[in-house]
Amino acid sequence: MLIETPRYTERFGSVRIHGTQRVLELDSGDEEEALLEPAVRKISRQAIAQIEKRMAIVIPIKGEELKLFEGVLSGIPHNCLIIVVSNSQREPVDRYRMERDALEHFCKFTKRPAVIIHQKDRVIAEALKKAGYRSILGEDGLVKDGKAEGMILGILLAKLAGKDYVGFVDADNYMPGAVHEYVENFAAGFTIPESPFVMVRNAWLFKPKILGTDVYFKKWGRVSELTNQHVNSIISAHTHFETEVIKTANAGEHALSMPLASILPFASGFAVEPYELMFIFEQFGGIKPTAYKEVVEKGIDIYQIETRNPHFHKEKGDKHVAEMLLASLAAVYYSSICDEETKKAIRNDLARHKVSPANREPPKPVIYPPIKNVNIDAFREAVKEIIPAVETMFKNSLTAKRK
Ligand code: GDD
Repeated sequence: MLIETPRYTERFGSVRIHGTQRVLELDSGDEEEALLEPAVRKISRQAIAQIEKRMAIVIPIKGEELKLFEGVLSGIPHNCLIIVVSNSQREPVDRYRMERDALEHFCKFTKRPAVIIHQKDRVIAEALKKAGYRSILGEDGLVKDGKAEGMILGILLAKLAGKDYVGFVDADNYMPGAVHEYVENFAAGFTIPESPFVMVRNAWLFKPKILGTDVYFKKWGRVSELTNQHVNSIISAHTHFETEVIKTANAGEHALSMPLASILPFASGFAVEPYELMFIFEQFGGIKPTAYKEVVEKGIDIYQIETRNPHFHKEKGDKHVAEMLLASLAAVYYSSICDEETKKAIRNDLARHKVSPANREPPKPVIYPPIKNVNIDAFREAVKEIIPAVETMFKNSLTAKRK
């Protein structure tokens, strides 16, 4: 891959927020050449493959069309471990069973490992209790609904498999080639950093919409435009220099190094992506003292890589967008570093988009603690029943045995 080196890096305490990087060539060959020019960086196929061997890709899925899911699977580079966390219905039609069958079929022909679990599996809930991570359990004792909750389970499984990187790809992507690019971008990002604490976020070049008989190549989604604006406004308020550096506040497709994934708390549902940024800025932006000395010493790198493929995904309607906007802006609103002016602007935006009245505060997002204190051996032992021999499964492409 031939990629621009970041033209601009905003430093916020120990956090290095790199400006968006353009991909010049999706594949730049095998040779590990010296830099062609300081402005670009060549990352060989081998370097990308080496990272992919150490990376798990988590696909959260809830009731997506099987054809979309199969397309997404085909786009994940061969060297990555696939982890599917499903919250699809079991009755009257067992959609989870259909997803599991599709995955098994895929693994049989591609001879590659994968794991699939159901978010509401009682064994998973019991395993979490034994491992000391109860906070994502609901009143029924099972893992709560939500994409973020699925992501957390995915990170735990990636950790169990000994992976160094974990990436997230939605199951409702229309373009397998785009999925492939997202993961290659993650891997490319992980070849650059100075620190073990790294996040790579995909920035869409275009998010097209169908308008009548035409395709319109829109640059921003409705939610991301506003969330980026407010996150940037908080950084500006603290640095006293106006910035637009954040372009990926809602990036569903993003990846984390395991050391960073282990210390991040996660917000529930669709607040998850902006909250990751807000937590990092609160803790490591140099505003408040932090207990994480090693992180302060090494810093955190946030890369934002601009995709070449347009992002086509399933449109789920205005109500869905409104829910996402509320959750996303709430994650920014309740940050302890959010200034009063930004809060007011958020309330006004929510009112302007008829999501909630300007005089009402958005509902507080639920925050789950980081997984660093999870007893991973206890978790491994307890999931044995559905994932018979975790090591064997990760090597030999078996999926959870549960019917
Ligand atoms: N495991 C699990 N559990 N998966 C879920 C759940 C759940 O409760 N709810 C949704 N998903 C899956 C969906 O099936 C899909 O694969 C993915 O999570 C994203 O959910 P969508 O409902 O399709 O979200 P979206 O496409 O509108 O928004 C995406 O893009 C936004 C940025 O534009 C999400 O990734 C957002 O988080 C992101 O901010």
